Amino acid sequence: MKDINETRHLSWDDWDELQRPAPETTDFDKVVDTALSRRGFLSGMFALGSGAAVFNLMGSTSAQAQAVSRFPFTPIPIQTDYDIHVPDGYSWQIVARWGDPLFSDAPEFDPATGGAPEHATRVFGENTDGMELFDVNGAQVIAVNHEYVNTDENLPQNADGAVLSADDVIKLQGLQGVTVMEVAQGADGWAVVKDSPYNRRITHNTEMRIAGPAAGHDMLKTEADPDGVLALGTFNNCGAGRTPWGTYLTCEENFNGYFGSTDAALELPDGFSRYGIGLEGRYAYEKFDPRFDISKNPNEPHRAGYVVEIDPSDASSTPVKRTALGRIKHENAAFALTAAGNPVIYMGDDERGEFMYKFVSSGVYVEGGDTEGLLDDGQLYVAKFETDGTGAWLPLDEATTGMDPAMVAIHTRMAASAAGGTTMDRPEWVAVSPVRAEAYCCLTNNSRRAADFTNKGGDPVVPVEGSPNPRAENRYGQIVRWYPAGGDHGAEKFTWDLYVMAGNPLLHDDAYGGSDNITAGNMFNSPDGMQIDQNGLVWIQTDGNDSNEDGFEGMGNNQMLVGDPVSGEIQRFMTGPKGSEVTGLTWSSDRKTAFVGIQHPGGMWPDGSGLPRSSVIAVTRDDGEMIG
Ligand code: FEO
Ligand code: CA
Ligand code: CA
Repeated sequence: MKDINETRHLSWDDWDELQRPAPETTDFDKVVDTALSRRGFLSGMFALGSGAAVFNLMGSTSAQAQAVSRFPFTPIPIQTDYDIHVPDGYSWQIVARWGDPLFSDAPEFDPATGGAPEHATRVFGENTDGMELFDVNGAQVIAVNHEYVNTDENLPQNADGAVLSADDVIKLQGLQGVTVMEVAQGADGWAVVKDSPYNRRITHNTEMRIAGPAAGHDMLKTEADPDGVLALGTFNNCGAGRTPWGTYLTCEENFNGYFGSTDAALELPDGFSRYGIGLEGRYAYEKFDPRFDISKNPNEPHRAGYVVEIDPSDASSTPVKRTALGRIKHENAAFALTAAGNPVIYMGDDERGEFMYKFVSSGVYVEGGDTEGLLDDGQLYVAKFETDGTGAWLPLDEATTGMDPAMVAIHTRMAASAAGGTTMDRPEWVAVSPVRAEAYCCLTNNSRRAADFTNKGGDPVVPVEGSPNPRAENRYGQIVRWYPAGGDHGAEKFTWDLYVMAGNPLLHDDAYGGSDNITAGNMFNSPDGMQIDQNGLVWIQTDGNDSNEDGFEGMGNNQMLVGDPVSGEIQRFMTGPKGSEVTGLTWSSDRKTAFVGIQHPGGMWPDGSGLPRSSVIAVTRDDGEMIG
């Protein structure tokens, strides 16, 4: 194990490689490669758009492609600076930055300290991610995730951002989780409504009810909670989702990183290594808060890794961990309904070699009816993709996994492996189209395959020899799309294609150039965040390599693009500051404002002094029209 001061600066992805190196190649890569090779992708590339069921990469016929563009903006070029850019006729402004007070009992942000520990839960948190806006009796209430911390910025007084004390840990715990905040538009634009009754921070220490099949299981019982029904905190809140009954779904992703052991000789309990839980956490929590010390509280990690449901209309409500949706590194939770009205939640497990899932509730959603329990009772499935463009959702039940429902909920990854799901290249956000029976998932990239990174004890990573593999390095990522059988999200069968294969046509004229809807003018890498607006347009946000060098030349900073699945066209709408990830997107009730998240900005963004501060911005059209 490397020194913690080195590992804390790694990305979560790289850090996980040290915890648990996964196989370089995933099943889904092989499925795509085989299908591409069969269709002569290498020799006949860019001719895939018509007729091919699997690789209808343009998503259209050429006649459709000539239809009038549905993009009400002039696409913008790439940028490499430390600013934000939107098209002519659009404007942006900051709504909330890390450290901005949500309540008047918190002082304004102090860049010398990054704020006091006792105020961490009274201010807008760090590293904004998934978000949703709710119209609560006319108030505009945004629920937004705070995924993780950057200790160099958050603990500026400590050399190298080291975590040195219980106070440091309390501060970091307070800066993560979720913010619920009312925002309002005044003469100076959008701003947080300080002291709104809806304002609330949910952190690593907030009480949560545990519901669903794992509630009360022995593996969830701790000394502080002998019944296994009440957990403290939600962790590494990455992507999000919403239900039609007005609740927010926040998703616990890299929860493993908060746990460690003060006993260096501890033998890890069963199931820890599959989840990347090791002896040393990323932020030294285990040294100062025994709850995160697995030598003292070995069941605490079983209480994290879930989807948590939050009622943004009631700041006193208790968030609920919905264990029926499985315990994985949850990216987001995309809602759909079956033809019969059962809630469906699509979910990705963002780690190389893990799976895509869906949950189908056994209950039916009725507007205005009782919704408690709809996400507690149902069937969890794992996705299986075939090379012929078909696929199936495999139920995770006793017959397929040998586990009872509680164990499926706690050891979901092992259940999915037993059932035979298709391992994927880091499934990030899923989005469900509101206008067509189809859904999309960003497979961000596979940076390990043939990259210069070494794993498995230091062996160089090499492509699989002899495989019909058009893309030994999936450095750019892709977006897979599926169509549920009969147009019913409850169906166990589907067909699939690739909506887009990212690439660099400036540098490559083979498969690394990407699908035929990728051009030198719209290229990007590592699709991650995704939302589909009310018109069916796909908003794609990236979290990739922004060096603008080597294989990434011409791609610039991370960005947000808009795709029209009917024409296949994809256009660049926004670029973020260098160093940042653009993640999280939601709209005001009148759809005239898009709220966008800027995570871990580089340089001194936004104001050129002090510390770089993760922020939510508002983007509007100068003519006051709707934006999506
Ligand atoms: Fe938190 Fe997978 O992104
Ligand atoms: Ca993400
Ligand atoms: Ca990512």
